[in-house]
Amino acid sequence: MEYNTIHVEASRSYDIHIGRGILNEIGSLIRPIVGDCRLAILTDSNVDELYGERLSGLFDAAGYAADKFVVPAGEESKCADNLLEFLNFLADCKLTRSDAVVAFGGGVVGDMAGLSAALYLRGVKYIQIPTTLLAAVDSSVGGKTAIDIPAGKNLVGAFYQPSLVCCDTALMDSLAPEVYRDGCAEVIKYGAILDKELFDALAQMPFDREKVVTRCVEIKRDVVQKDEFDNGLRGLLNFGHTFGHAIEKMSNFAVSHGSAVAKGMVVAARMAPLCGLQDVTGEIVALLQQYGFDLTCGYGADELYDAILSDKKRRGGNITVVLPKAIGNCVLVTLTVGELYTKLKEVLG
Ligand SMILES: NC(=O)c1ccc[n+]([C@@H]2O[C@H](COP(=O)([O-])OP(=O)(O)OC[C@H]3O[C@@H](n4cnc5c(N)ncnc54)[C@H](O)[C@@H]3O)[C@@H](O)[C@H]2O)c1
Repeated sequence: MEYNTIHVEASRSYDIHIGRGILNEIGSLIRPIVGDCRLAILTDSNVDELYGERLSGLFDAAGYAADKFVVPAGEESKCADNLLEFLNFLADCKLTRSDAVVAFGGGVVGDMAGLSAALYLRGVKYIQIPTTLLAAVDSSVGGKTAIDIPAGKNLVGAFYQPSLVCCDTALMDSLAPEVYRDGCAEVIKYGAILDKELFDALAQMPFDREKVVTRCVEIKRDVVQKDEFDNGLRGLLNFGHTFGHAIEKMSNFAVSHGSAVAKGMVVAARMAPLCGLQDVTGEIVALLQQYGFDLTCGYGADELYDAILSDKKRRGGNITVVLPKAIGNCVLVTLTVGELYTKLKEVLG
């Protein structure tokens, strides 16, 4: 079958294969990477119900013994208890250093499977099989792995690259519309930060999924290759996220990640002219509205400021925000927390 392959050169080099129906090839795709080995699948209850048997059947037909661990669907599962339980499960399955973990699901299982693979025996290989649009374009690529702890989301993690990513875009047909739309916020983000052509193409709905996922992954790959460990450029991928995370947190996660990022991109766009940059708010708002996002921030400057101060990306008295200079060209702007407050007041009143 035809599919797209993107190669990543990082601390571990790997391929990302993207195609409709590519899951059927999983056995032959992983063999050159992991050889004959034992596999441990981490998945969630929704994905397991929809596709669990199919994946197990495919591994079985390819001659792989694969054990499976299922967590309840939802962000709450990305926790220390489940991480530890899964690590114990790997030990019970007698996984060795030459065996591999398989993440089969969205960003929740992808992040936790990746961290488990980094920790178990001080590192075993892992394969990402993303099943949400967000996981396909973002979390399955680039090696950021994590769990949440009570003090905050993604506060415990490691940089640990997968050995292969196999992205079957047909699996996304079954996504709930709001989950699919969350992924669209990230797709729009890629266009806004680095690719005007992609941004413009997204006005044509529905977009060509293979083409768009491939382009987003290329963009992320290019950024990750230049700044794998998040010391600068990779921060660009956080467009909308500093404000978005604050909104998400203040809503007690009632506002979904994608919706919060959409609102956050608008706050950033409105802040740009206050920092001497072009005002592209109109274009960003128009595209996000086309995708059905409610863009009202819902919080005042004081509330947002307090939540941003506890952002893990803050460094001392400074915070770096991503602001658009033009569509397809975002820049990192470092503000003192005082400057941020003043500008937030201007944007949100
Ligand atoms: N590591 C990174 O670089 C990175 C980047 C962005 C986000 N993240 C993390 O990703 C997580 C969010 O990921 P997500 O949005 O994929 O959430 P998720 O994994 O919770 O999936 C969202 C929902 O979709 C369901 N689902 C998954 N695939 C499905 C399918 N094919 N059909 C039907 N339902 C399906 C899941 O069961 C879940 O209910 C967060 O924890 C976030 O912190 C990580």
